[in-house]
Amino acid sequence: MSRVVVIDHPLIQHKLSIIRDKDTGPKEFRELVNEVAMLMAYEVTRDLPTEEVEVETPVARARCRRLAGEKIGLIPILRAGLGMVQGILNLYPTARVGHIGLYRDPGTLQPVEYYCKLPSDLSERELIVVDPMLATGGSVVAALDLIKRRGGVKIKLLCLIAAPEGVKAVQETHPDVDIYIAALDERLNEHAYIVPGLGDAGDRLFGTK
Ligand code: PRP
Ligand code: URA
Repeated sequence: MSRVVVIDHPLIQHKLSIIRDKDTGPKEFRELVNEVAMLMAYEVTRDLPTEEVEVETPVARARCRRLAGEKIGLIPILRAGLGMVQGILNLYPTARVGHIGLYRDPGTLQPVEYYCKLPSDLSERELIVVDPMLATGGSVVAALDLIKRRGGVKIKLLCLIAAPEGVKAVQETHPDVDIYIAALDERLNEHAYIVPGLGDAGDRLFGTK
């Protein structure tokens, strides 16, 4: 069963409270989503393997640890997932970025795929799928299905806000994928929006309506 990790750091919760605020405009919203994604990525990658190296400091030899070269693949679900990419690339500038284009049909609530471009060596990478919102879970489940069909194996999911329904859907269909979130909200409303949530993440990031 997937683990659900709520990253409850005060700084993340502070920034998330501003992100949620309906009066926060696109510029600040974008900056904060990237900052929170960066802070969360620090936790998500806590178990990356390291190796021992020796370094000459100006004073003596030191035994240190460096990342053992695990290759990272970052996969935003378009469009709102794009808002989390730069923050994570600030930490992992060599990560490869794959894109999956999905939108949720407002009538059926089913995900509709319109784009997919993923790194060719997917099976060798530690993959982080990013999307600010996990609502019904339909979009994330479709993205995870697609990534696995293309050979992805080691996958983590990073979202800002989740509804219990979305968490359950991922746990039932992809029990090997751990879920990292900043908040687990109450429920979905009749339009399958997360309550209290933050509204439409894509529209708020890009100033569309
Ligand atoms: C949002 C969000 C997720 C999806 C969540 O995207 O970014 O991808 O909805 O809903 P679900 O869990 O019920 O599938 P949206 O479809 O609004 O597209 P956008 O990112 O292009 O705005
Ligand atoms: N997509 C969003 O952007 N927000 C929600 O609350 C649900 C789906």
